[in-house]
Formats: sequence, structure tokens, C-alpha cells
Amino acid sequence: MKSRLIAENQLVPEQLAVNETLFHVANGYIGVRGSFEEGVPAEVKSIRGTYINAFYDTEKLHYEERYTGFPDYSQCMLNVIDAQSIKLYLDDEEFSMFNGRIVSYQRTLDAENGTVNRTVHWVSPQGREIILTVKRMASFAVKEAFLISYHVKCLNFKGLLNIISNITADVSNMSAEFDPRLGTSGGNRLDVSRINSRDDIFSLECKTRNSGLSAVCTMSNKMDNSSKRMTAETSRGVSEIFEVEVESGDEICLEKFAVYTDSVRFEQPLEEGFRINREIYQAGFKQMAARQRQYLDSFWKNADITIEGDAEIQNGIRFNMYQLLQSASNDKYSNIAAKGLSGEGYEGHYFWDTETYIYPFFLFTNPGLAKNLLMFRYNTLDGARKRAREMAHSKGALFPWRTINGDECSAYFPSGTAQYHINTDIAHAVIQYWQVTGDTQFMADFGAEILFETARVLYDVGHFRNDGKFVINEVTGPDEYTACVNNNYYTNLTTQHLFEYCDSAWKMLKQSFPAALDRLAEKINIVFEEIAEFKKAACAMYLPFDKKLQIHPQDDSFLERKVWDLDNTPKEKFPLLLHYHPLHIYRHQVCKQPDTVLAHFLLEGQVPLEIIKNDYYYYEKITTHDSSLSTCIFSIMASRIGDKKRAYDYFSKTARLDLDNLQGNTEHGIHTAAMGGMWMAVVFGFGGMRFNGGQLYFRPNIPDCWKSIEFKVVYRGRVLQIKATGTDTIIKLLDGDAINIYLNDKLLKLEPEEVTV
Ligand code: BGC
Repeated sequence: MKSRLIAENQLVPEQLAVNETLFHVANGYIGVRGSFEEGVPAEVKSIRGTYINAFYDTEKLHYEERYTGFPDYSQCMLNVIDAQSIKLYLDDEEFSMFNGRIVSYQRTLDAENGTVNRTVHWVSPQGREIILTVKRMASFAVKEAFLISYHVKCLNFKGLLNIISNITADVSNMSAEFDPRLGTSGGNRLDVSRINSRDDIFSLECKTRNSGLSAVCTMSNKMDNSSKRMTAETSRGVSEIFEVEVESGDEICLEKFAVYTDSVRFEQPLEEGFRINREIYQAGFKQMAARQRQYLDSFWKNADITIEGDAEIQNGIRFNMYQLLQSASNDKYSNIAAKGLSGEGYEGHYFWDTETYIYPFFLFTNPGLAKNLLMFRYNTLDGARKRAREMAHSKGALFPWRTINGDECSAYFPSGTAQYHINTDIAHAVIQYWQVTGDTQFMADFGAEILFETARVLYDVGHFRNDGKFVINEVTGPDEYTACVNNNYYTNLTTQHLFEYCDSAWKMLKQSFPAALDRLAEKINIVFEEIAEFKKAACAMYLPFDKKLQIHPQDDSFLERKVWDLDNTPKEKFPLLLHYHPLHIYRHQVCKQPDTVLAHFLLEGQVPLEIIKNDYYYYEKITTHDSSLSTCIFSIMASRIGDKKRAYDYFSKTARLDLDNLQGNTEHGIHTAAMGGMWMAVVFGFGGMRFNGGQLYFRPNIPDCWKSIEFKVVYRGRVLQIKATGTDTIIKLLDGDAINIYLNDKLLKLEPEEVTV
């Protein structure tokens, strides 16, 4: 049931920080962790946080030994002004879930209406009894808006009820010394510049310490009950206090409207903050809730997946898709952070996670949003060009391994900058967009430029070896437990694909957009001879293969390394990255995540199934899945090689990864790449979907314990609905013109309104 996607029925203090992640509300622009409005006692672990996508501060990076090309500064998505605080007093007793008595409690995530709802029936230490119902939402319709509806029913007392609603800059980022997945420079990085008010709207404006960005939060509160209204200001925040005389049975309702604006997107964030706040105040919570519902109806229309026969997994699937929506930016200034807007893990950075793991979900359900994600990369191309020069490439662009503002901020280059495949990953997303939407105009305006510029750097990294083979040395592939190697199979294969598509793009532009091609050629100073060189390199690309083992070694020296004894490694030593020096890990054959196996998923090409199987079983034995990006790919490829049991086992680990806190760090935020990977495991894995050269293929193969799966994909302007049981598949063309597809190797023509079995 989408309206109660997840529920918490009991207060378990040790689970609080994880639940703050699971119950966060976000809309791609702002994210508010699911902390209680009233706060928690100091001894209870809570990570209270509110984030604005791409709103960050910088910190100078200190290296004892600094080499050329090392990034200058780190970037960190900031915990911004807190607007979730509301305190409640019944006469002199303060409401808290941690004192008095909880008669009943429930918190739910309603993914149909886009709200998180909390209901508490509470008796104070002195016996005052209330039912508190709180609804909160980050509006999808007005991205700057975070709203709370706060409703108190007084059951048995007469007296004074005080509600204090505030906004405060008393916030800070967390930091960790020994976990590379967290930042090291926490603390408070916001200076208050101004506190102001206009017509009952309060504003708090802050500036970051180093990056020079400003954020504004405006707040207004609406209460229909007659009340005494007061204001209190401190140096770091402002509160509105409502004092109401209540009788038994009275119901008090406060609506809180908070609006976030920032100098990244607005020239006058303060003015905009007041304007938007006035608008949503006038609309009221009810109308904003109706707009939220409308937005989500249209989201679920194409995105929903139905699994018959597995309620737990069904929930996980919908939860994950909803989280992806909450995480995805819809503007050109930002992208999708590894943890979305749910927490501070990976400091709000964007990685290849977006393009390789999350992108297909949006591409096949919401192509407009998918295009927007590419626009972020296009808009940061200049930064990538600058980075390429820093890395001694005289032409082209090198995208940063991790970033917020487009500059590289990965301080540990072996598993950072060395991952040159970030370029091919972004290019691959562009190619997919082109194939799936047929949007050639996008290629002419933006896409081809990304392809040519990313290809240039890889061409420069590689060279033609004595035997004529094109080789790429000293890079790191996706598997971060193996670094700085020669001829990583994944990198070489995806580069080959990129080079080939540069040729296709050039030819397509020459034929259909000659003027645009001329403009582009002049802008980046590229000629066909360079494209022809790429093509030559693609034909000569060296792809490592071991004849004896009949597998693709992950790279040239991979098989020479000692195999890590995973069976005899104590459980508490995982993830390995927290317990062993990187060099020790690099000396072994051990993988954090799929690399060659992932390459087979993305670009199966002409590789025979037997070899794909060999690779699968070889790498499976030495993979720890220490990265959350791992099990989804193993599930997809297990489906591909017909190993249904493995496909399901890996899938169940992915589908409930955050709901069951399987990585043990959900308190630091959701794992968006795994969530996207889960979608791919349903559609590409169990649905057996592939697309190639403008052609769609399906070969469903669903787990034995499921009765059926049903999903939709948007492809070249059509909407297709696929329903597969263990024995049959029904494909309907719900929207768009007739189209040919392949189902289990049979060519079928889908006509509008017709059902094909
Ligand atoms: C993975 C990377 C990933 C990053 C952010 C790391 O643990 O190894 O592939 O990009 O997490 O999710």
C-alpha cells in the first residue's frame, strides 16, 4: 500500500537515527531528516539535518605531501537552517516522546500523498493527555517549500497550551575521523547575516564561511484558534509563540510554512523567500497537499512496479523508487547526491552513481527529468575542461570523480581521480538518452559536445602499443579494491563504445544538423580526422582475456595477485576498507563491487554467454559487496545467465537495503545508487529488457516465488506496459504509435490498444 509504505509503531531510541533517514522528506531541492519537531534528549542519538541540494561550503584540503593536480579544497553539502522545530507545552509540562507515557504511536510514510505522518497518544508525567498528529511534506509543486501541519487534541485538561515554532541557524554538520564515507570537517559553517520580518513572515539569512553562498529560510505560521501571539529573537534564530486557553476536547491546529531559497539559484533569495512564502501561506496546507497528490499521481503512473506474491519486496521496491524521486534534482545547478537529501554521508557529492545506476530509472519513466540530469553535466563541462588541463591533457574534459560544484574534490586519487571511467559513464548516459528518446536535437545542442570532449581525454590517456593495440594505462576501474592498473576491462570497453559513438554522433550531425556541427567544431576546435582517430582506437582497443581460465581479467595484472581468503576473514573485518590499509587490499584479488561483471551488463556486445558465466562465477567468489552498488548488478547478471536463485537472493538484499539497514550505515543517508540498481534489476534483470540500435528486447524470467511482475517503460514517445508471470508475458502499448519489439527473440508489432502475448 503506497499510502503506508513504511510504518514505525514503537519508539526505539537506538533506531532513531536510522528512522530519521527513512522518514526524511525531500523533493530534489530540499531535504529534511525525519527528526521529531520537539527534539530528543541529549543522550539519544539523533542526526538532525536539513539540506539544500548543491548548497555547500568549502574547506582547504591539507596535504602533508602535495603533488600537482591535487584538488585544493573539499566541498560539503551543508546542514542549513532548521525549520522543523516546534515545541509544545501543556501548562508547564513540555511534550517529549521520552517522558510521560506513550499510549500509542505511529509514524508512516505516505508515498501516495507525499507526506510523513506521526500520531502520538501521550500522557504527560502529571496526567495531561493529548493526541498529537503531525504531517510534514517537502512540496514537489513548490520546491522551496517545507510544510508542517501540527494538530493537538486535548483530551482531559483545561489550561494554557503553548506552541513555539521557530527557525534557527544553530545547526552543524557531523564529521568522522576514520570513515572515508563521511566528511572530516563538520561543525557549524553558517554565519547569520540578517533576521527580519514582513507581515508575519520571518526570515533568517545565512552565509557560508568559505564558499560565499547565502541561504534564506522564511517562516510563517497559521493558527485558526484564537491565541496570543508573540515573537522571540536570538542571535541565531527567531520563534513565534502561540498561547491558547484550552478546554478538554479542544483541537488546536498550527500550519507552519517554511521556504528555502539560496544564492545559487536566485539573484534575490530574500525577496523570493518572502514572495513564495506569501503564496504558500495563502494556498494553505490543504491546497498544497492536493498539489502534492497530483504530482505523485503522475509520477506513479509510469513508475510503479507491481509484484504479486512478495509483500516485503514490493514495499522495498516502491520505497526505493519514491526515494529516487525525492533525491533527484530538477534544476541545472544540482544532481543526485549519493545519499540524496537524506543525510550527510559522502558529503552530498555526486558520483558516477547517477549516470550508471540511477539514470535508467528516470530515462525510462520520466525522460524530461533524465535530460535535466545530463544538463547538470553539460553545465559543468567548463570545470571538467579545466580539470583536464590540471591533469595534463591538452584537450577535452575530465569530469570530477566526486563533486558538488563541478570541481574535483576527491582527495584520495587512487579511488578518486584515477577513476577515469566517470567520463565514459557520463557519455554512456548521453548515448542511452539518444537511443531511448531519439532526441537528436539534444545531441546537436549538448550531447555531442559531451561525447567529443570526454573521448578526447581517454584518447590522450591511452596509446597505440607496439603490437598496434590501443591500451589505457594507470586508471582505476569501478572496483575500488583494485587501483591504478593497466587496461581495466571495464574502462577499455566503455571507452571503445564511446569512441564508436563519437563517430555515429558526428555522422548524424553532419547529415541532420550541419550548421550545429560547424558551430561545435569551431567552438571546441575539432575536425573529422580526430573522430577518425577515435574510431581507429576503438577498432584496436585491447580487451584483456585469459585463454586458460576463459575469463576476462579485470586488468593486466589482476590474475597475478594473491586471492584474498574471504572464507577465513572474520565478519567484523568487513567492510575491508575500514580495517586494512589500501595497499594491502590492492595486493589481493578481492573486489568491493562488480567491475567486469558490470561491463557485461552495460555492454554485452559479442561476448558469448559462456564467457559471461565464467566471469560471473569467477568474480562472485572474490567479491565482498562492501559497496552498496554491488548486489543489484549481481542480481541482473544472475538473471542473464539463468541463475534464478542467485538473482532473487541478490535482489532481496538490494530491494530492502535501507529498510533493513543492511549496510549498517543508513543513519548517514539512503543509498541512491543501490535504489536505481534495484529498478534495473527488476526491469533489465527479471524483465530481461535490453535496447540496442533503436530496438527494444524483453526476455522475462521472474523468481519462482512471485506470481507476476508488472512495470511500464517510456520508449521513444511510447508507454509500454509489461506484465510477466512464470509462464506468460503480456505487453500493452498504452500510449504512442505502433512499434516493433522483440519478446523472447520473436519480433512483434505492438499496435495501439492491442495486447500482445
Ligand atoms: C563505491 C563507489 C561509489 C561511492 C558513492 C563507494 O563505496 O565504491 O563506486 O561511487 O561509494 O556511492
